[in-house]
Amino acid sequence: MGVLTDEQLESYERQGFLVVPDFASVESCRALKRAAEVIVDDFDPAAHRSVFTTNEQTRHADEEFFASANTITCFFEEEALDADGNLRVAKDVSINKIGHAEHDLDPTFRQFTYTSDLASVATDLGMTDALALQSMYIFKQPSIGGEVGCHQDAAFLYTNPITVTGFWFAIEDATLANGCLWAQPGGHRGPLRRLYKRAPSGAGTMFDELDPTPLPSPPDGLVPLPVTAGTMVVLHGLLPHWSSANRSPRSRHAYSVHCIDGAAEYPPANWLQRDPSMPLRRLRDGAEASRSGRRA
Ligand code: FE2
Repeated sequence: MGVLTDEQLESYERQGFLVVPDFASVESCRALKRAAEVIVDDFDPAAHRSVFTTNEQTRHADEEFFASANTITCFFEEEALDADGNLRVAKDVSINKIGHAEHDLDPTFRQFTYTSDLASVATDLGMTDALALQSMYIFKQPSIGGEVGCHQDAAFLYTNPITVTGFWFAIEDATLANGCLWAQPGGHRGPLRRLYKRAPSGAGTMFDELDPTPLPSPPDGLVPLPVTAGTMVVLHGLLPHWSSANRSPRSRHAYSVHCIDGAAEYPPANWLQRDPSMPLRRLRDGAEASRSGRRA
């Protein structure tokens, strides 16, 4: 049974994104926020110094980053650390994001992710075998929340053919002031510009430049997507999107799950490689599948 209407599907095909208000309940958003806070509480900053670098060309591709495919890892905001690597702000407002396997390793994240509603949305969008590839809990901290440069998700989570689809959930209200998403309507019909992959040497990562067509220069060509908590935004893997830095006093928490179709080829050069002991799971097969997360 479908979840999306014909109008929603037509809008997604035309624009490359879809905004679905009230997809997640207030209670499930609150529970996810609490689970993220517990992860940060348990995190020892002294033992980790991975910064989520917003300029993708200089993304810090260390072993911890690769390992995050199979772990729950906290990444600092760039501006949270001083030149000596010491925290400039309190730990609970220093983390850029948690990634990239909390959807399989944390019970609350599992429950939020593996729902029959989300599985049905993926089916409605034409995914025949939707696999939950990665998850990110994004804090967009007050005052220091970093910009995420304009990009296409397929550059980082590539399959042949391209199937990656982003399911982004506002856990708090996202506004122009605190760094809401911006997207290029119809931009998913453009080519994949670049491909982020493991360097052939096995050390670090690199970009393959695939197409010279420029991405939009934010905010030109993009439209803002301010949404209330509980809203789901679906993003086509080729859609250029962006979010600004957060200079406001309010955080902008969001959770995103990126899915791929199991029928597509997943290259070994992708940065994200799951350990064989932790295979990707189908959205449909999640043990916690239920409709309980949905308000409407
Ligand atoms: Fe993205």
